[in-house]
Amino acid sequence: MSEIETTALLNFFNMLLEAERAGVAVLSELNMRTEDQRLKPILKKFLRDEGVNCRILISLIHDQNAKPSDKTGTFVDKIHALDNLDEKIQLLIRGQAWVARKIKEFRFNLPAGSAYWFLEAIRVQHDENVDTLKKYLDKTEHH
Ligand SMILES: [Fe+2]
Repeated sequence: MSEIETTALLNFFNMLLEAERAGVAVLSELNMRTEDQRLKPILKKFLRDEGVNCRILISLIHDQNAKPSDKTGTFVDKIHALDNLDEKIQLLIRGQAWVARKIKEFRFNLPAGSAYWFLEAIRVQHDENVDTLKKYLDKTEHH
């Protein structure tokens, strides 16, 4: 891999790491604040996955002999700026879709083998999360 390619790869991994870290912060806060028994298991499952994703991304960055970013994405502030749960869930859906889209756009620049498949798993997970949250909102509206 050329130096430019390695830099692009590390920028991509760090961008996702910061986003997943923001996801962990947002999901744990939403989980603590909601009493909705239909939403809680969804948030807990996402939270577990996003935590694992952070570990995966840190490992992939270490594979390149680089130091992982210690920043958290701006998504946390964007969620805080909203005051009702529905709006927060809508933004969460857009955030999940954003991660899936970013991986789709970058996937052919990923190293073959485990890095590609780890990221593909994260991509599928985020697409599934979008569907799960949309279903949750659909059912909520019809109550
Ligand atoms: Fe995520």
